[in-house]
Amino acid sequence: MMKLLTIIGARPQFIKAAAVSRAIANVGSIKEIIVHTGQHFDKNMSDIFFEEMHIPRPQYHLDINSLSHGAMTGRMMEAIEQIILDEKPDYTLVYGDTNSTLAGALAAKKVHRKVVHVEAGLRSFNMDMPEEINRILTDRISDVLFCPTDLAIQNLKNEGFDNFNCLVVQNGDVMEDAALYYAQLSESKSDILESCGLSGGDFILCTIHRAENTDHPERLSQLVSAINQLHKKIPVVLPLHPRTHKLISAQGLTINAKVIEPVGYFDMLQLIRHSSLVLTDSGGLQKEAFIFNKFCITLREQTEWRELVDHDYNILTGTNADAIYKAVEYFLRKSFVKNHDFYGSGKASDIIVNTLLREG
Ligand code: UD1
Ligand code: UDP
Repeated sequence: MMKLLTIIGARPQFIKAAAVSRAIANVGSIKEIIVHTGQHFDKNMSDIFFEEMHIPRPQYHLDINSLSHGAMTGRMMEAIEQIILDEKPDYTLVYGDTNSTLAGALAAKKVHRKVVHVEAGLRSFNMDMPEEINRILTDRISDVLFCPTDLAIQNLKNEGFDNFNCLVVQNGDVMEDAALYYAQLSESKSDILESCGLSGGDFILCTIHRAENTDHPERLSQLVSAINQLHKKIPVVLPLHPRTHKLISAQGLTINAKVIEPVGYFDMLQLIRHSSLVLTDSGGLQKEAFIFNKFCITLREQTEWRELVDHDYNILTGTNADAIYKAVEYFLRKSFVKNHDFYGSGKASDIIVNTLLREG
């Protein structure tokens, strides 16, 4: 039986792991051991996903969070290293680009264990972003790299990965697997539209949490005032990440929008599917908007999901209020017609499982 150690710690990783864990359970010949680093810890940022999506309970919970990048990554590495030495997994699997991702990959590689990176090859080309540092370093030390898009494959080729001793596979996007599977359930399980008074009405769904916005007072206050203006025209619903909540309060800013707690995945899927459009700095939400035929305005200067911008499903506005209003007006008038399939067709998790079993 193959032994797979999965390292997760932040909200999007729980959603990705839900899809892959289902595929693992279907084959029955892989023993998955889940480590939750504790990076996200509020109920609505962590437990809710395990409960709703029936993700297997983590065997290890490290409870490491709310620290500086170095302290968080270092303490995670130390704990994960010991688990790897005890468990001796065939593979250590990490997702995406968070501090939990890098800590898991580095800890495993340093004790000569094979590393699998899911969501490999993505680049924003902005080295000021913690995520860009995490994903570049993780890719470089991974043994098996699962890439979601054509562009991700191309990025690795450009960086010389053809000459490195690793396996690069284009498998599609595990978030698409999760979105397609859980969308059916969310319709009956979520009452978010009723509880927020949104049934039948138009609204913009907004999320903000990336450090490149929240940690720059000027950018954060531009975003808050743009949201306040928009909300006068069309309701803006904002499930607010605790990081953003704290920093908005610290700056003494007031948001005049429908601010709610972070929501579980079922509620989020309902909000996306019934929104008029999505305004976000999230990576995952940009793709989910596309999957559910919604335009997306990305409150950043770059995106790793460049194909969405190149084909006019997504506009990058940064925090510039005029650019945001223009993009909102443009998309509210435009019909969404999907002519592309960028992210596979819901089989990305099966490809991961089958590849690992074949490679042994
Ligand atoms: C992290 C990832 C980011 C990812 C995001 C997903 C890094 C460097 N960043 O950002 O790439 O997009 O997760 O949501 O790994 N907090 C709480 N409760 C929680 C979680 C966080 O209060 O459950 C607060 C704490 O004050 C914490 C702060 O938010 O210090 C930031 O949390 P952290 O996990 O460091 O980064 P995120 O902004 O969540
Ligand atoms: N999400 C959620 N509830 C929320 C906000 C986001 O379930 O209140 C989901 C979202 O649908 C997507 C994932 O979390 O699947 C994205 O996570 P996030 O935006 O935190 O991180 P990123 O993708 O930017 O790394």
